[in-house]
Amino acid sequence: MDKCGSAMEFLENKNILITGATGFLAKILVEKILRVQPNVKKLYLLLRAANEMIALERFHNEVIGKDLFQVLKKMWGGDFDTLISEKVCLVPGEVSLSEMGLKDSNLVAEMKNQVELIVNLAATTKFDERYTHNYAH
Ligand SMILES: NC(=O)c1ccc[n+]([C@@H]2O[C@H](COP(=O)([O-])OP(=O)(O)OC[C@H]3O[C@@H](n4cnc5c(N)ncnc54)[C@H](OP(=O)(O)O)[C@@H]3O)[C@@H](O)[C@H]2O)c1
Repeated sequence: MDKCGSAMEFLENKNILITGATGFLAKILVEKILRVQPNVKKLYLLLRAANEMIALERFHNEVIGKDLFQVLKKMWGGDFDTLISEKVCLVPGEVSLSEMGLKDSNLVAEMKNQVELIVNLAATTKFDERYTHNYAH
């Protein structure tokens, strides 16, 4: 078996938490996983947002609304929205806070039970960021 085959097999049926979901690398990772292994079980995408509505807005504007997702949209056509709603769970959070700032206790319990893999891509990548900066959307 080649390496690509084994990576796809590994991702099959996996529940994965990806932080920094609006970021450069996370977007590429999410698109790639959904394109090559749509049988991933669920992608929990942690993004900074004060609530679910803002998380959804950010996800649409800053993630799936980007040109990067055009190929996936073409592949799935009218089923693209179904793919997203079945495979993506948005998690409004803030990794610098206790329990990653998660407010929904049911979601926290679900994630504690289900998540098998964490890809932490949340990071401050601005070289002139203030040390005390606390981001709130
Ligand atoms: N890009 C590369 O080529 C590359 C190469 C090697 C390693 N890396 C590393 O990979 C990581 C991600 O890089 P990137 O290029 O994807 O960076 P990026 O585009 O700046 O994305 C960083 C993401 O982290 C989020 N974030 C920042 N602080 C957070 C917090 N406290 N809680 C929750 N989310 C937070 C940001 O959210 P907001 O949208 O809310 O700001 C953004 O979505 C970094 O550690 C970087 O050093 C990157």
